Amino acid sequence: MISCRNVSKSFRDHKVLNKINFDVPEGVIVGLLGPSGAGKTTLIKILTGQLLSDEGKVEVMDRDVTKLKGADKNRFGIMMDQFGFYERFTCSENLKVFADIYGIPQSKVTDSLKDVGLEGASKIKASDLSKGMKARLLLARALMHSPKIIFLDEPTSGLDPKSMRAIHEIILKRKKEGCTVFLTTHNMDEAAMLCDNVMLLNEGTIVENGSPEELCRKYNRDKKIKVSLSDGVTKEFKQMGQDKHELADLISKGMIETIHSEEPTLETIFLELTGKKLQED
Ligand SMILES: Nc1ncnc2c1ncn2[C@@H]1O[C@H](COP(=O)(O)OP(=O)(O)OP(=O)(O)O)[C@@H](O)[C@H]1O
Ligand SMILES: [Mg+2]
Repeated sequence: MISCRNVSKSFRDHKVLNKINFDVPEGVIVGLLGPSGAGKTTLIKILTGQLLSDEGKVEVMDRDVTKLKGADKNRFGIMMDQFGFYERFTCSENLKVFADIYGIPQSKVTDSLKDVGLEGASKIKASDLSKGMKARLLLARALMHSPKIIFLDEPTSGLDPKSMRAIHEIILKRKKEGCTVFLTTHNMDEAAMLCDNVMLLNEGTIVENGSPEELCRKYNRDKKIKVSLSDGVTKEFKQMGQDKHELADLISKGMIETIHSEEPTLETIFLELTGKKLQED
C-alpha cells in the first residue's frame, strides 16, 4: 500500500530525514516510533503529499503521491493535529463542511459521528469539546469517506487512558475491515498493543524495524528472570553465569514464591540502540 524509497528531507542545513526505506502491505497497522523531533510528522507529511521530499519517491496504492490530485487524494484519510476545526461550528456542522469539500454524501455525517461514539455530541461546538472528543472528531473526519488507508499523526497524544482506549478500538475495528493504518507515536505501549510492525526512528534514520514481539525476542539477550522469595525479597537473575547457579539453588531450596521472565520493552530497545528515551518521564 505504501512504498517509501530513499526519502530524504532537510530544512536549510538540518537533515531531518536521511534515506528512509520501507514498504507497508495491505491490512496492517504500522507504527513509526521516535522521540520528539525525530522526524515523524515530517515523514507523514511526505507520505501524504503535503510536503515534498528532497530525494526519493513515495508511492501510495501504486501511485506517485506527489502527482495525486483532487478526488485521488480522497483515497486516504489523514488525522493530524494541525488540521483544525471551525471552533464555532458544531461537530455535525464541521463534518458537513468537510463532506462538502470532499464530495462525500451528507448522509455520512451521522454515521461517522456514531462510528466514533460522538452521536450524542453532534450539536456541541468544536470549541466546547474535551480533548478526547476532539480526537474522536478528528478521527471521524479522517474516516468518513471510508478510505483504504489512514495516516494518523500521534492520534492519542495527551489523552486520558479511557479516551486512548476508545481511539484504539476504532483503529482496530477499521483494521478488521481491511484498512491499512500508518501511525506515529512516542508511546511504546500503544505501539506494542496496536501495531503489527514498528519502525524506530532516531534523528531521521530508521534504526530498527519488525513486529513488536520479534524485536523484544531479538533484544532479549540477557534472558532475565525476576523472582520474589519466601523471605519477601525480590531479585533479578540472568539465565547464565553465576546467576544461573544461584537461581537453581533457590529453586532446589523451595524459596521461590513467584517467577517471571523479563523481556525488554520497545522503550528499553530504543534506549539500547540510541541512548535516548522515547518518552519523557
Ligand atoms: N517547516 C519546518 N521548517 C524548519 N524545520 C522544521 C520544519 N518542520 C519540522 N522541522 C524540524 O524538523 C525536525 C523534525 O520535526 P518533526 O515535526 O518531524 O518531528 P516529530 O518526530 O514529529 O516530533 P514530535 O514528536 O514533537 O511531534 C525538528 O527538528 C523540527 O524542528
Ligand atoms: Mg510530530
